[in-house]
Amino acid sequence: MLQKAQPPSTLPQANDPCWCGSGRKYKRCHKPLEGRVTQGVVGPRRSVPDHIVRPAYVASGVPVRWAEPRVKSADIIERMRHAGIVAAEVLRLAGTMVKPGVTTDEIDVYVHDLTIERNAYPSPLNYNHFPKSVCTSVNEVICHGIPDSRPLQDGDIINIDVTAFVGGVHGDTNATFFVGTVDPASQQLVRVTEECMWFGIEAVKPGRPISDIGKAIETHAKKYRYGVVKAFIGHGIGEQFHTDIQILHYYDERANMIMRPGMTFTIEPMITMGSWQHKMVFDDNWTAVTSDGRRTAQFEHTILVTDDGFDVLTAPGAVSPMAPWNR
Ligand code: MF3
Ligand code: CO
Ligand code: CO
Repeated sequence: MLQKAQPPSTLPQANDPCWCGSGRKYKRCHKPLEGRVTQGVVGPRRSVPDHIVRPAYVASGVPVRWAEPRVKSADIIERMRHAGIVAAEVLRLAGTMVKPGVTTDEIDVYVHDLTIERNAYPSPLNYNHFPKSVCTSVNEVICHGIPDSRPLQDGDIINIDVTAFVGGVHGDTNATFFVGTVDPASQQLVRVTEECMWFGIEAVKPGRPISDIGKAIETHAKKYRYGVVKAFIGHGIGEQFHTDIQILHYYDERANMIMRPGMTFTIEPMITMGSWQHKMVFDDNWTAVTSDGRRTAQFEHTILVTDDGFDVLTAPGAVSPMAPWNR
């Protein structure tokens, strides 16, 4: 097993060699940048009681993909409605924990316990070796942030991404929350990102190409000169966490798959104040941050294509607040 270097208790001066042994100057290597999210300590792995049914990938940490029907049976859809409600409840409750001083690890514990209480397995835990039960992505972290010992700070924004596996299927939903008092520019970013998600959801219609979704999202983001992240996309979902349906959050004419009643997928735009490009600055192979360090927000729902439009499985009965009659 690879042993990761840990920072020493006394840190080097900016121009000294980095403690990690890279040979680079500390300031060009592990020195935290002013105003950027710092990496905390990731605690030990949490256990799941034996009576909770686990997804197949948990044993090895690596999903074995199989060809799952894109159009789901009535039985699978019923089970996905339940998984969707569980994920949504856990996300809502996790959101009530968000305040200055709370660590993302404490949010992970809460999500882990709430999920298990509902007889569900927290899907992220050991999915491709992800070490925790939820993704927590703060400020410039685009997605896949790993909960750790960093306390939330007044003015942060945090995305919490909850996925629950119950009844043999997954429900996947996320939202971005304010920590204390947040500056107006970040408030607008978060509001517009949620609007982008709803514009994407409204574009779900049987017979239409899935490129309609990205077109609607990108059109709204552009009004504010925001960026749309391209590297991470929405996905088909069901008995597997991620299936082969790809939901781009920007327009690409090649996204010509036709939406059919019974299809299930997520819409989860990541919108940036600056560059839409990402980089990996933490040595964990998960945490994606914006290349310019500016903030980014995300919202996600799991969607079912119906005979005349959509159902939001992670917000049953929800209609778009962006629908013409609500605007
Ligand atoms: N929930 C994320 C998504 O929306 C996936 C997280 S994968 C994990 O697709 F391994 F990081 F949990
Ligand atoms: Co997802
Ligand atoms: Co998710």
